[in-house]
Amino acid sequence: MDAGFAKKRKIDESNQEGLSSYIPGEHGGETSLLFSLKEEIGCLSRTLKLFEEHGVNLSHIESRPSKKNKTEYEFLVSCQNTNGKLQTVIEKLKETTTGVKVLGDDNDVDSVPWFPRKISDLDKFANRILGYGAELDSDHPGFTDPEYRARRKEFADIAFHYKHGQPLPHVVYTEAEIKTWGSIFKKLTTLYPTHACREYNHVFPLLVENCGFNEDNIPQLEGVSKFLKDCTGFTLRPVAGLLSSRDFLAGLAFRVFHSTQYIRHSSDPMYTPEPDCCHELLGHVPLFADPAFAQFSQEIGLASLGAPDDWIEKLATLYWFTVEFGMCKQDGEPKAYGAGLLSSFGELQYCVSDKPERRPFDPAKAAVQPYPITQMQPVYFIADSFEEAKEKVATYAAQIPRPFSVHYNAYTQSIEVLDDKFQIKNLANSIKGELSTLIDSLNKCK
Ligand SMILES: [Fe+2]
Repeated sequence: MDAGFAKKRKIDESNQEGLSSYIPGEHGGETSLLFSLKEEIGCLSRTLKLFEEHGVNLSHIESRPSKKNKTEYEFLVSCQNTNGKLQTVIEKLKETTTGVKVLGDDNDVDSVPWFPRKISDLDKFANRILGYGAELDSDHPGFTDPEYRARRKEFADIAFHYKHGQPLPHVVYTEAEIKTWGSIFKKLTTLYPTHACREYNHVFPLLVENCGFNEDNIPQLEGVSKFLKDCTGFTLRPVAGLLSSRDFLAGLAFRVFHSTQYIRHSSDPMYTPEPDCCHELLGHVPLFADPAFAQFSQEIGLASLGAPDDWIEKLATLYWFTVEFGMCKQDGEPKAYGAGLLSSFGELQYCVSDKPERRPFDPAKAAVQPYPITQMQPVYFIADSFEEAKEKVATYAAQIPRPFSVHYNAYTQSIEVLDDKFQIKNLANSIKGELSTLIDSLNKCK
């Protein structure tokens, strides 16, 4: 699931060779540079002139007092190497400024892997997929069906061209597709009252009422996304193929879930080798409308930002045993909350039977537990509540070696990197405001 994601180019002082062999922005993307300047009049304008003289367009500039030298300021600039002159500018910068660093793609911090800082940054990796959605393996049920393959390409193309802020593309499903959905919907809904957790059963009727969840209709992502946004701030965005674990988890940090829109092949409605709209809509969507589950999912996403590769693997495994195959205990009975269970008629019955092993949820253990992808799970982890699971994940994630904490600012839909006093003070002030509201409401509450 997480194999082959693009590894971030790590460029630091110990890797100056890498710097010279790497041509910044050679693929036409945005490049960010960091450099320091002494506090002198005209110093910045002279430096910025270098970019202008070489026709390198600046798209962003910010400054902060240098942590290393109190008489200097650090500048972060983002630019586009459209004419190939950026390397020359860098060489000139080295002559007139200090601490010149090329950051991978954006306003990154030292050698930490790149991560999106604002919600529109998700566009940057939307098409960095590990396989195009239209490419099917030879054992895929739709492999020999040209009509199905053409249809898959249509869906992949829709997602490929999607950009943040656009309405989610409306899809007209065929009668055959609706029939496939209907047969799955009919079977699974017979199990939900007894096998799904109470949060799922609380939300499901609301989806029937508000988003057209019924056996004769495949709900549109746009309507479902709006519903989720009203409930918890979660939104959906279409995805053209399989994302890397790093990219997929980063979406969760923004309460964005990357969702497929195509449906499985009609030859076997109860089987799909990959996520499809039945899995997303019946498995994932209902729980993203639950505030505690939404927070829990976002916690995993936030933990992943800037995490080293080995930790991404652990977090992806943790995601597998919770968001995909998680179980909880309610009124003494095991119930399913993972999407992989809630979208599978066979495994939903199996997971509550006495066949699999069920262990108490422990992130440190779940994160390293091996699991089969193509068979039913031999082991499930049972949480007491989403709140408790979230706390446990937060404690576990505190061990991730990264030189800063992150905070999601829901007003600006951006990630704040808490690595200096100013940022931390801002956060403290905002929490102080919320605490006053809390105390005030407690005083007024009789
Ligand atoms: Fe899933």
